[in-house]
Amino acid sequence: MVKTIHFLAGFLATFTIVTFFLSTVVVEVFGSPAAVATVKSLIVAPGLFILVPAIIAAGVSGFALSKSRRGRLIETKKKRMPFIAANGLLVLVPAAILLDRWASAGSFGVTFYLVQGAELLAGSVNLILMGLNIRDGLKLSGRFRASRTTAL
Ligand code: HEM
Repeated sequence: MVKTIHFLAGFLATFTIVTFFLSTVVVEVFGSPAAVATVKSLIVAPGLFILVPAIIAAGVSGFALSKSRRGRLIETKKKRMPFIAANGLLVLVPAAILLDRWASAGSFGVTFYLVQGAELLAGSVNLILMGLNIRDGLKLSGRFRASRTTAL
């Protein structure tokens, strides 16, 4: 049960960030200001209401799964988690809320694009860290072959 929750939450959190990232880039390159405002609003709701619980669920279930286990892969996954959570809660959430407000008011000034850049950067960092946690998780669960040394 905890394993299933962890698997689903981990993939959902990663998928949500990929969706935020791609929809932002596509709409800002090809879309009208109204389309940008719609995407920014969808990122806040339902987007953040999916992302934040998914990150929390992945972290809590991950720590629960690791209680009875030791090893380098687990320690590395644990170390990445505070960065994933801080990036999500301290950068992605406030950035999404600010960008939604500004886009719905039609104010696409320098500050909008600076915060947008920060959001895309934080999103990319989280995607890399979550991708590494997925890779190490699949090694731990045996779905993805680990080498002898890393499996221990
Ligand atoms: C957002 C962060 C995380 C993501 C995306 C993630 C992703 C995954 C995935 C996809 C699996 C494979 C599950 C399966 O094949 O059934 C897994 C397994 C695992 N993860 Fe995570 N994980 C995250 C955070 C953590 C944290 C913080 C820990 C705590 C150390 C952790 C501990 C584990 C353990 C112990 C397993 C092996 C479970 C088993 O025995 O099958 N994970 N993780």
